[in-house]
This record gives sequence, structure tokens and C-alpha cells, in this order.
Amino acid sequence: MSDVPVITVDGPSGTGKGTISSYLADWLQWHFLDSGALYRILALVAEKSMISRDDVAGLVSLANGLNVVFTCPGPGREVDVCLAGKNVGAELRTESCGKGASCIAALPEVRLALLQHQQAFRAPPGLIADGRDMGTVVFPDAVLKIYLTASAEERARRRHKQLKQKGIDANLLQLSVEIAERDARDSQRPVSPLKPAVDAVVIDTTSLKIEAVIELIAKLVCENIPGVSGWSGQSHNKA
Ligand code: C5P
Repeated sequence: MSDVPVITVDGPSGTGKGTISSYLADWLQWHFLDSGALYRILALVAEKSMISRDDVAGLVSLANGLNVVFTCPGPGREVDVCLAGKNVGAELRTESCGKGASCIAALPEVRLALLQHQQAFRAPPGLIADGRDMGTVVFPDAVLKIYLTASAEERARRRHKQLKQKGIDANLLQLSVEIAERDARDSQRPVSPLKPAVDAVVIDTTSLKIEAVIELIAKLVCENIPGVSGWSGQSHNKA
């Protein structure tokens, strides 16, 4: 076990995990792990390398060779990823890439190959880890575990808005179906299913604005992490 504190932020897609995690990382000046991006990158690289979703050995070999470093992207921003010198951020965020990630994420061998990779992000002064199994499997000794939920309708609406803002074309109805399928796959898989850790604080964000959720979590951070002073409500590095 490491002395470096970790705060985990888990939950299904569209709950605001990524945005909230980026604010927390920026506020505390801690490292940031977007574990979903790792699964997405692997799915994307596999597709580009013509490695099929059932070629477990091929996927594990790709996972072992992944060399991704995230710097805190800034509050409210997502990590950008370059592959072979090309920014693939937009490709990474499509629902089709999310589906690919969710399919390969159900393979225990792939999860194991990415486990140490994720744990290596734990470095002083601390880590904000965003994902599905951060509090249950990857960082079971996290000092604070948050699990965010929201109704399926609200999550689909948020994802739709987010994709549109990025200029990615999406149909709300189709998105709702795809999100429901991904949720089912993520929560029903035998290995590391999507679920709150027993010691997680569960927050339903359906009717909450993102600022209110950040305030709530910032209060929990101040109560649980020694030496952290109050949330000022804004970032010095605001996007
Ligand atoms: O969080 P994001 O939507 O980017 O994650 C994409 C997919 O990667 C998820 O639907 C899930 O299947 C998988 N994932 C996972 N465990 C994590 C993070 C993501 O299985 N810790």
C-alpha cells in the first residue's frame, strides 16, 4: 500500500465524473487518471491495428505496450491523446469507441494487463482516479470514494449535449439505447462490474447542477483529507 492519497470517482457515463475529477485535480494540484480513456485508447489502437475484440493475446500485448501519460487537462476539460502524432481526442469520445472500450473491458486478461498501468499513476502529492472500478478494485485503499449516479434519461441528455458541443453528430434516442447497452454490459460483466464500493459515498446527480456536485464533493474532501483548505468555488486555471 502506498502513502499517496487517492480519491476515486466512479459511476456510469454521463454522471459528470470526468468534469468533476478534472476540477478536483486542478484544485488540489493532484495527478489525474481517466481510466476510461485507457480502455478507449486500447479499443481505438486495436481497431487501427486490425486486432479483433476476441483476440485476447493481441489485446493484452497492445495493453502491455501502451505508453500514455495524462497531464491534468484543466478544469472541465478532457484529456487529449495523440497517436502517431495525430490528435485522436474526438475519435476517442464517440459512442462507437465507448462501445469498443466496453467490449474489451469485459475481458479479465485485458483488465489485468491495465491494472498496474493504472496503479502507476499514483504519485505524490495525490491522485484523482475516474472510472468504473477505481474504488472497488484498482485503489481499494482510497482515502475518499465517490460514486455518482443519475437517471438514464438525464445521462443520455447530458452526453448528447456534450457530443454536440464538440461537433460530434449524435441522435438522442440512439444514444440512449447505446448508453443503456453499455451500462448493462459494464454492470453485468463478471469481472470488476460497475458498482459502488461498500465504503463509497453515493451521490445522485440527476437534479443537481455540476457546480452543486463539485461543492458537495469539495466539502467531503476537506473533511477527509488533512491539510486541504476550503473550495473557493473557482479555479486559478479556469478554462
Ligand atoms: O468512462 P468512459 O465512458 O470513457 O469508459 C469507456 C468504457 O471503458 C466504459 O463503458 C467501461 O466499459 C470501460 N471502463 C472500465 N473500467 C474503468 C473505466 C472504463 O471498464 N475503470
